[in-house]
Amino acid sequence: MTDLLKRAYDPEHFREQAHKLADLLADHLAACADQTETTVLPWMEPDERLAKWQSELDSEFDFTCFWQQAIDDTIHLHHPKYMGHQVSATIPLSGLGDMINGALNNGSAIYEMGPVSTAMERIVTDWLARAIGYGPESSGVLTSGGSLGNLTAILAARQHKSGFNYWNEGNKPGFHPAVMVSEESHYSIARAIQIMGWGDRGIVRVPSTPDHKMDVSMLEGLFRKAGQKGLTILALVGNACSTSTGIYDNLESQADFCEEHNIWFHIDGAHGGAAAITPDYRHLTKGIERADSVVIDFHKMLGVSALTTAVLFRESARSYDTFNQKAAYILHDVERELWYNSAVRTLECTKNMMGIKVYAILKTYGPQIFVDYLSSCYALGKSFAGLIKSDPDFDLPYEPESNIVCFRLIRKGLDTHENNTLIARVRQRIIEDGRFYIVQTAFDGVTYLRTSLMNPFTTIDDMRELLHEVKRVAAKI
Ligand SMILES: Cc1ncc(COP(=O)(O)O)c(C=O)c1O
Repeated sequence: MTDLLKRAYDPEHFREQAHKLADLLADHLAACADQTETTVLPWMEPDERLAKWQSELDSEFDFTCFWQQAIDDTIHLHHPKYMGHQVSATIPLSGLGDMINGALNNGSAIYEMGPVSTAMERIVTDWLARAIGYGPESSGVLTSGGSLGNLTAILAARQHKSGFNYWNEGNKPGFHPAVMVSEESHYSIARAIQIMGWGDRGIVRVPSTPDHKMDVSMLEGLFRKAGQKGLTILALVGNACSTSTGIYDNLESQADFCEEHNIWFHIDGAHGGAAAITPDYRHLTKGIERADSVVIDFHKMLGVSALTTAVLFRESARSYDTFNQKAAYILHDVERELWYNSAVRTLECTKNMMGIKVYAILKTYGPQIFVDYLSSCYALGKSFAGLIKSDPDFDLPYEPESNIVCFRLIRKGLDTHENNTLIARVRQRIIEDGRFYIVQTAFDGVTYLRTSLMNPFTTIDDMRELLHEVKRVAAKI
């Protein structure tokens, strides 16, 4: 045994380090909350930051300085002026779940390697499945992210609706499967289809209505046309909600269509599927309980740290067929349908102890914490929309349904292209300045600033300041 190994594994050394880091993080959370930390993103060009950390590697090591520097140098999601991508300002307890995951390193895709997290995974996925309105036949599995979750669900659709054992037999000559997706779907949906080798022709894009919902009146015609082209539609994917606009599809109409045509109905609820568990926003997800599968990211609107995604199946049994494969060293045939080896139902062979984070939060604060997190953020979306509408210099392209709000400053005399350029430059200046973090999007040929209000501690004053900042920055361009 080397001295170095002894020191690295010394429990007292770990205890001291962990206490110090917990103190730094608690101080960081406090500084974000009262905004004595004034920077959300300390902007630096990627190459410059790479060089900085490259040279840090050789500098003298001081534990506290190192971690403090890492915290200071990165983006701060707990800052109330973080309004960017859809990643939770986590309930801090979730971070402790990550710590136990890292320290115990249980590879939780088979029961023996993660007995506690496996049990917890079952409990939290059952809880979420029932909470969105699924019945006792449902169940779920946790995956590392919504992209993987969408792929998992679409693979299940393929196995169940192709009419043969696709997993074992592979594609058949003359069989051209396809999935109907909203033109506003997250790119992970198209990617899942292309991973399966169905190419572009496997994606039947359904246009949106002017209010950014899938235009369900076009489904019948597109379905027929696909058939004429020799495509077999196996599934339809609904948005709850879309990434770019935060708008929910009409899930009930989509469910009707899927039932009528006997195709799989998958809902990408990575961002907003969890609205189904809240009294105030449940109406947005009407029909969710009729989907064959739903993906919900705990690390988006449920305050859990990344990556923690639930893939829920209305009929549990269907999820066991997806990977109809044997791996003799872990998955014995008799165990195939046993819930406690989640490797049977996911792509992951070794996976994080995701369930423990959700379980810990559920046990400590009860399900209301999830309702409060989502509802507070969605309420901010409404308030922000109100502010934007009250200022004639801004354009709100649609009434937001969630915490994703798109808007733009309109400068008189500029055409659309020039205004788009202005918006992009404003956003770049804002993030380089570092006091706010927002993103941008484009639809209908128009560029918008885009905010995801992910931090329940953002206030109306923060949002007012953002609008002020946009004008201030634009005035200098
Ligand atoms: C609607 C939607 N689906 C899927 C994803 C992908 O999820 P993940 O980032 O967890 O892979 C996102 C991410 O933003 C999303 O907004």
